[in-house]
Amino acid sequence: MTAAPPLPHRRIAVALDRDPYEVVIGDGCLQETGKALLQAGVREGRQILVVSNPDVAELYGATCLESLKHHGFKTELLLIEAGEQHKTPATVAQIHDAAFQHRLERSSLMLALGGGVVGDMTGFAAATWLRGIGVIQVPTTLLAMVDASIGGKTGVNHPGGKNLIGAFHQPQLVLIDPATLASLPIREFRAGMAEVIKYGVLGDPNLFELLEACPEPNHPAGLGSELLETLLERSCAEKARVVAADEREGGLRAILNYGHTFGHVVETLCGYGTWLHGEAVAIGMVAVGELAVQRGSWSRELADRQRQLIERIGLPSRWPSLNDQAVLTTLQGDKKVRDGKLRFVMPRGVGKVEIRDDISREEILRCLEALKS
Ligand code: GLY
Repeated sequence: MTAAPPLPHRRIAVALDRDPYEVVIGDGCLQETGKALLQAGVREGRQILVVSNPDVAELYGATCLESLKHHGFKTELLLIEAGEQHKTPATVAQIHDAAFQHRLERSSLMLALGGGVVGDMTGFAAATWLRGIGVIQVPTTLLAMVDASIGGKTGVNHPGGKNLIGAFHQPQLVLIDPATLASLPIREFRAGMAEVIKYGVLGDPNLFELLEACPEPNHPAGLGSELLETLLERSCAEKARVVAADEREGGLRAILNYGHTFGHVVETLCGYGTWLHGEAVAIGMVAVGELAVQRGSWSRELADRQRQLIERIGLPSRWPSLNDQAVLTTLQGDKKVRDGKLRFVMPRGVGKVEIRDDISREEILRCLEALKS
């Protein structure tokens, strides 16, 4: 088969020194999955194990598989349970079993069709099968589109903590079809928007202003398909920029944790499942914004703009009623603690953040007091 002409979609380069790849965004591009793989350099005839969950597969599995077959790929489909509670080595073993059963070779690939849990586990299974085979990420949730699918973090949970078992394994292609967001529950869509706001604050003021200017940013139809694609493109570009600069999180990549330190506290102390991850991040961004205002490194005006945007999207902004000592203890247990020092990603403007490890317990307690009022 001759090389297919380029797809008329938005494309973002993840410019890694070794094995760079593209994020392709386009309404309806799921129907062109096979063509997109050829464009990404995957050879016709390769065997592809598509991993999905029953709900996503029912909606989008046939479209994806038909396109792959149409372009000459051999396909197998594996359905796994995809809630956070299933993000375990046992589920990855199911993917390995399917790889064995279907005799996947070094030249075969896995394709993750679904949200972040499917993507993380499929990525990890691909990283470990035959010491590493290719993986394609086709995210169908907003959170997975703008965060989990890009950057190569793969893994599963251990009873001792989330994502403690994993590997860096970059995909060969990330294919994003915004049309799949139509079936996403609105609460999950809004939770994903927290990460979009995050990218605005940490690196892209224009993205932040685009959201502020939108009269109805709290649902996909209110944004409209053009703006939604632009938000996806700019968020993915921001993620790609950071990952390309620091693939293994030696330094800069930690800025992607903006809002996540306090967010992690909210998730842990309110009980996993009370708040979605993105909702906890939204609360966390408001909290760290207050911390920055109190230190004099961020203006009240910018903190208010951030909070108003979070609220207009329909995300929670209020700090929950939590015991301060428990908050401090949980912060100390955060993965991002280094040499006993708490590390916070602090806003410096809109489009600029800095990592600080000189925040005292007293400052945190003062901030928590202010958040209660
Ligand atoms: N989700 C944060 C990262 O990819 O580094």
